[in-house]
Amino acid sequence: MNARKLIIAIDGPAGAGKSTVASRLARKLGYINIETGAMYRALALKAVEEDVDFESESALVALAERSHITLEPTTEGNRVLLDGLEVTQRVRERDVTEAASKVSVHPRVRAWMVARQRQMGKDGGVVMEGRDIGTKVFPEADVKIFLDAAPEVRGDRRFRQQSTTGNTKPAAVVAEMRARDQRDRTRPNSPLVPAEGADILDSTDLNIEQVMERVEALIAAKQVASS
Ligand code: DC
Repeated sequence: MNARKLIIAIDGPAGAGKSTVASRLARKLGYINIETGAMYRALALKAVEEDVDFESESALVALAERSHITLEPTTEGNRVLLDGLEVTQRVRERDVTEAASKVSVHPRVRAWMVARQRQMGKDGGVVMEGRDIGTKVFPEADVKIFLDAAPEVRGDRRFRQQSTTGNTKPAAVVAEMRARDQRDRTRPNSPLVPAEGADILDSTDLNIEQVMERVEALIAAKQVASS
């Protein structure tokens, strides 16, 4: 295998399987995995705690500037620290999930995040996942994958994963997810779209092993092409 340390970008909507693929891939390649969504979630949590208006871009940027958000890559995903306190579970809860979707529409909040994400991935050896990694954070990434799946399948996966969402009905999870997706896909700044040159992978009818096989084949093909 090529020894050069790649930058691998994985984008796509919630529930497409990005985090699972990114952490497995990182483990396999000996890379770190960065879940950029957790950074937006950590800032959203701080906004919830400090009662900052999700509509106020300047207040959110000021909040970000006095926040210490750290992602610690582990084999099971990212440990999330906010101002030194572990918030890994807390940021997955329903109120923070909703807030993160609102906080992340603001261009200056995004610019603040993107600058940090570029710093975290600049040396390569990274699998970075989110919504704008291939379009904005690392348009020059060695491998760009857009992982998608049908909304019902994504909602169902989320429902199974999250006993902490506060929802009891899968239909409610799907409805909330669709609303957040719509916000991600239609925001003027960095909407969720496949990056130029991205390989689109639909995981609707695939299990995780099959997704991994395809992802690894894509990476191998890029490595052959660039060697
Ligand atoms: O991937 P996730 O569900 O943890 O992301 C949380 C929110 O942050 C989601 O509403 C989309 C947003 N996000 C984003 O706008 N850009 C990213 N690179 C990652 C996440």
